[in-house]
Amino acid sequence: MHSRLIIAIDGYSSCGKSTVAKALAKRLGLQYIDSGAMYRAVTLYFMKNNIPIPFPEQLQNMDFNFEPVLDKIHIDFRVNPSTGLSDVHLNGVDVEKEIRSMAISEQVSHVSAIKAVRVRLVELQKKAGMMGGLVMDGRDIGTVVFPHADLKLFMKADPMVRAERRFKELSLKGTKVTMEEVINNVVGRDYEDTHREESPLRKANDSFILDNTHLTQEEQVDIVMKEIVRLKDSIKQGF
Ligand code: DC
Repeated sequence: MHSRLIIAIDGYSSCGKSTVAKALAKRLGLQYIDSGAMYRAVTLYFMKNNIPIPFPEQLQNMDFNFEPVLDKIHIDFRVNPSTGLSDVHLNGVDVEKEIRSMAISEQVSHVSAIKAVRVRLVELQKKAGMMGGLVMDGRDIGTVVFPHADLKLFMKADPMVRAERRFKELSLKGTKVTMEEVINNVVGRDYEDTHREESPLRKANDSFILDNTHLTQEEQVDIVMKEIVRLKDSIKQGF
């Protein structure tokens, strides 16, 4: 099914947003865009080029012009023929794997709190959604990027369950990391993402809450598909 639907998914770190987003995109014939990958790619560029990354308490008094740096960053998504999924490219290079490291996870919340970074990426995200037909996940998609999305999902799960899932995922990929590091990262990012000045993570008033602490992936997708059917009559575009 191809449609011009826009589905916005927000929620806490390691909630399984991208898994649900990919499954919905596949079922509904929509493009999937991982906005977190964009913030991660900018973080990778900052780290590789020794661009100062402010701690939250330094943000207000930071006297650094990020604009010329951002002018040098080009981010786009290209379909990876071996997976069929869109990989994020930073200045023409596929960085999909590199951006998932713990080193990036530890810095990305600091980078995504920088106003100039958010302004640039939100602009790109809005452009990507101009024609509709996509599922985008992140932290401010239903509140800032697509406030008029056809469906807004807000995902959450118990922090320990999220940390366990993330730990398993990283261990399977061969990343050497302790459970303690993963818990600190998940909880720390939740705190920073919800307390930052610029478009903090919050639930849009009209979003559908999906707490997946005790749900399988299939159950989650089924619940959301039922919600889409329920909304069908009120959705103007698509279908
Ligand atoms: O979805 P993720 O965990 O890969 O996102 C990485 C970080 O990027 C997350 O800690 C907060 C930030 N982010 C954001 O501020 N706004 C978004 N729309 C997406 C991600």
